[in-house]
Amino acid sequence: MENVNLPPAFKSKFTFYMAVCWIIAAFGGLMFGYDIGISGGVTAMDDFLLKFFPEVYERKRHAKENNYCKYDDQLLQLFTSSLYLAALLASFIASKVCTVAGRKQTIRWASLLFIAGAALTAGGVNLIMLIFGRILFGIGVGFGNEAVPLFLSEVAPPQHRGAVNILFQLFVTIGILIANIVNYFASKKHPWGWRLSLGIAAAPAFVLLLGSFYITETPTSLIERRKYEKGKAILKKIRGVEDVDAEFDQIVTASEIAHLVKHPFKKLMKLSSMPPLIIAILLQVFQQFTGINAIMFYAPVLFQTVGFGNDAALLSSVITGLVNVISTLVSVLLVDKVGRRVLLIEACFQMFITQSIIGGILQAHLKSYSDTLGHGQAILVVLLVCVYVMGFAWSWGPLGWLIPSETFPMETRTAGFAFAVSSNMLFTFLIAQAFLSMLCHMRAMIFFFFAGWIVVMGLFAFFLLPETKNVPIDLMVERVWKQHRVWKKFMVDDNENGIETGR
Ligand code: BGC
Repeated sequence: MENVNLPPAFKSKFTFYMAVCWIIAAFGGLMFGYDIGISGGVTAMDDFLLKFFPEVYERKRHAKENNYCKYDDQLLQLFTSSLYLAALLASFIASKVCTVAGRKQTIRWASLLFIAGAALTAGGVNLIMLIFGRILFGIGVGFGNEAVPLFLSEVAPPQHRGAVNILFQLFVTIGILIANIVNYFASKKHPWGWRLSLGIAAAPAFVLLLGSFYITETPTSLIERRKYEKGKAILKKIRGVEDVDAEFDQIVTASEIAHLVKHPFKKLMKLSSMPPLIIAILLQVFQQFTGINAIMFYAPVLFQTVGFGNDAALLSSVITGLVNVISTLVSVLLVDKVGRRVLLIEACFQMFITQSIIGGILQAHLKSYSDTLGHGQAILVVLLVCVYVMGFAWSWGPLGWLIPSETFPMETRTAGFAFAVSSNMLFTFLIAQAFLSMLCHMRAMIFFFFAGWIVVMGLFAFFLLPETKNVPIDLMVERVWKQHRVWKKFMVDDNENGIETGR
């Protein structure tokens, strides 16, 4: 591609206020991550199983009979996955709230819903309360995941947008890690440890709630809602310079085009919206088909399955959690330098190789249901899982959120991003719901299943994914989509086809 990636001369300086806003918003990621990390550990706690899933508890006690199937229970899986179904639906409502009330309000709602979810699950006395609490958590996650990545991408200066947006994913990984540590200690507190694990979810939500009174609204959202004066003032404040005219004019132009579109969801279905929409959905679907959540939700269960004791299993998942955080930092540092494509493609090699070897080891050594791995082999599996997590953490993890938040034009941004969020939730749900049964039926083959998908997504990234590094967010159509070998064919004027107005 010719010079399409050069940023225009938008001026900006680092400001303390802006950095604090980034961090506060990123707490939305921490809420999401905490939730991802907490479920696996809670569903492995005996007190929790005994209270809500006594049959699973019984099966677990006779685990020697069947290594791969001891946790296979649809209701137990529903506990984990009900959140994702709720989040899936909520993301579409959140997209509307984001457009009409702004990103900041949506973030506030996310925190309130999450606090309610934490209260209900931590105080749960029956399965209904538990599932209902998970649903509230889910709606909170849907709101947060819709608003936070958009917020970060919109307030970031173009040349650092990747790094700033990845703060969301960085906080997701910190949330997962904290959850693993909390689970490790809570599992020793009988019989109420699981309540502690679920209740602590309210802590990041409180930070987000308080912070939502301090953070700025994004200039884009203000200008989109025709609050031009305020939009310009905020732009000056967050860029730390007086001369923001070039950037302001460009956002105003984008918003004028956006105002011509009355029905963003209809507009999304037009040919010219397909490139960012297809990319957003596929990135999220593929992100889940890396198999990452098989590891994240069920790490303790998985490590027990391959022969670790309770404690060792939780500890191993703390280690993978730490690797996840540190490797995401690598992405923060590299994404605006080497670009998105290099990270995604490199990681496919890394994840393919590690998944295949893990599959090979388990296939060779866990033949009968009651086999366990030798000490050395089990350590090797943990190491391989770490290298796999590393690859995911600097690529498909953060970029599954970053790219969809930066590639839609303003008129379809919140609606288009809702498809990214909901695809994430749908496929997280499917994997969460199916994984334990798949593990039970496919056994080690499950790793080859994910490795196969990794090949497909590598080819997708290589042939179809355009580079978006350094391109200002409101110039994507001109500089990226209209220049790409394949996608430019979609960039027709939908008006000429006699369809609703737009670009
Ligand atoms: C994904 C989650 C995953 C997490 C792991 C996120 O980007 O959406 O499904 O559990 O990364 O760090």
